[in-house]
Amino acid sequence: MAIEEEPAARLTALLETAGRLRPLFESGGASTLLAGRTAVLAFFENSTRTRSAFTRAAHLLGLNVLPFDAGISSAKKGETLRDTALNLAAMRPALFVVRHSAPDAPRQVAGWTGIPTVNAGGGAHEHPTQGLLDAFCLQREFGRIAGLKFVICGDLRHSRVARSNLHLLTKLGAQVTLVAPPTLGFDAGWPLPAGASIAADFDAAIPDADAVMVLRLQHERMEGPFLPPGGEYRARWGLTAARAEKMKPGAIVMHPGPMNRGVEIDSSVADGPHSVILPRSRSASRCAWR
Ligand code: CP
Repeated sequence: MAIEEEPAARLTALLETAGRLRPLFESGGASTLLAGRTAVLAFFENSTRTRSAFTRAAHLLGLNVLPFDAGISSAKKGETLRDTALNLAAMRPALFVVRHSAPDAPRQVAGWTGIPTVNAGGGAHEHPTQGLLDAFCLQREFGRIAGLKFVICGDLRHSRVARSNLHLLTKLGAQVTLVAPPTLGFDAGWPLPAGASIAADFDAAIPDADAVMVLRLQHERMEGPFLPPGGEYRARWGLTAARAEKMKPGAIVMHPGPMNRGVEIDSSVADGPHSVILPRSRSASRCAWR
């Protein structure tokens, strides 16, 4: 699944379903909705939030979880993704959850196995469940998404979160402003959806924003000199304490994680009054779950 391909009505329906299931999560209960079935969590890249959230969600729905850790698997011996997927499919799972550095890997797994597959992050393409979580957070914080002004700043070039949020939030009627260093923006000519715009000046975008999302520099995907020298990145594109002071009352700070404190975001902002990033950072931090 990619958010870009989904109609707004389906995305809205997914958010409504999440709202209906949230009491199950909050109560710590469990359902038998999918009891007796198995989900393979196939993570070929590291994860803390997404993996634990899918594990928790599976348990809440009564699913058995078959974890797959690429780092200790036979993928390390050279087994192809296709062979790995087909072997895991022999365990008769009802569902695959796939994270991989190749953008199309979740779709390929679905094609090879014929088993429903959730995209838990494909390369620098999309991270649909992160986008849905962020939209869910905005909906809860503001009671709406349409008309919100959402700023995303950072390493857009390598960010699947940015792409999913860009498509999702504009489909739901938000205005999305994108800010990045010249070397880390989307490729020139990449078609921006209606409702999206590019800004060069992070400082100018902040005072009007309802939500500011900052992104990690994804060094592991960089092949070349993408970064300005020294502390220039923080000075120009970091959400520093001084910048956060320009945010309007009620505006929120988001970050999909993991954070590099002191680079794209100051610690005092990550843990400050505008932040909804971590549960302890805000009394009403309703967003810090995935
Ligand atoms: N937001 C996110 O995808 O975090 P993880 O990489 O820890 O899953």
